[in-house]
Amino acid sequence: MENVVPLTSIAEIAEVIGRCQSIAELESLRVHWLGKKGILTQALQGLAKLDPEERKRHGAQLNSWKAQFLELLDQRRHLIEAALLEQKLIRETLDISLPGRNRGRGSLHPVRQTLDWIEGYFSGLGFEVADGPELEDDFHNFTALNIPEEHPARAMHDTFYLEDGRVLRTHTSPVQIRYLESHQPPLRMIATGRVYRKDSDLTHTPMFHQVEGLFLDENASFADLRGLLADFLQNFFDRSDLQVRFRPSYFPFTEPSAEVDVACVLCNGTGCRVCKATGWLEVLGCGMVHPAVLTMAGVDQEKFSGFAFGMGIERLTMLRLGIPDLRLFFESDLRFLRQFS
Ligand code: PHE
Repeated sequence: MENVVPLTSIAEIAEVIGRCQSIAELESLRVHWLGKKGILTQALQGLAKLDPEERKRHGAQLNSWKAQFLELLDQRRHLIEAALLEQKLIRETLDISLPGRNRGRGSLHPVRQTLDWIEGYFSGLGFEVADGPELEDDFHNFTALNIPEEHPARAMHDTFYLEDGRVLRTHTSPVQIRYLESHQPPLRMIATGRVYRKDSDLTHTPMFHQVEGLFLDENASFADLRGLLADFLQNFFDRSDLQVRFRPSYFPFTEPSAEVDVACVLCNGTGCRVCKATGWLEVLGCGMVHPAVLTMAGVDQEKFSGFAFGMGIERLTMLRLGIPDLRLFFESDLRFLRQFS
């Protein structure tokens, strides 16, 4: 028996198997003992050469070793697999008590919020929301609004000119003209959008937003204009007792024209830095649509009259939300923007 298999005891092989740390090590041990040319395999094949008596004895012994060897391999394999699974579970542990990842939810820019609010207010009064191009021709931006070439009012506008003679619109008033080209009174129109002026300092940016309004109807009067704008401003600033005053002014496309002030919403009219100690804040321009504009639009002036108004949205937003610096609107600083989400 001693020379059949170089094995002193099954305890010895149990020890070798017990030192295996991986499935691969176990497998090479299996091949070494029980592979095609394995030690046990060869010993089992060698049984054929023995006489029956010896074959029986050795055969029983070899088969018992083989069975024990396979059993030991199997046990060790289970242990290694269990350890691997344990490691994997530790590695992949998910701490469900950790806070979730931030989804980075966005919000509307304060200027957009104001535009939406104003569109909502006027839509509720039957105004249609209209639109016009930011690249505008000279006719719609100036001439049709009663600002002919060489008119001194053109100098007030600090216009960006394109090489082809078009302009970046300096106000939303050209939308009045475009709307009149395709609509007849009675009509109510509101237009919002970007406008451009060659102007840049603490309180001016080369691009800002305006809202334009146009109202034409039978017997529309300056009193209607006053009533509408006072109600709008009191709602916008959420103060039903907000004082509103109309000051005579000049726009080429309205006559009479007015600028509208509200009692300073920051100091309640007592005088502060924002209202420059006057107690009043100028918030919009308006007037009765000029006969020259109505004539150009082919409106029957015996029957219809009306008014228009325009306002700067950044300024209104600053006053409503108490924002001290115009530049904050254009810096995309999330610390600023998040305050209005
Ligand atoms: N378009 C004028 C401006 O930009 C505002 C305005 C609009 C005035 C409509 C009167 C009527 O200053």
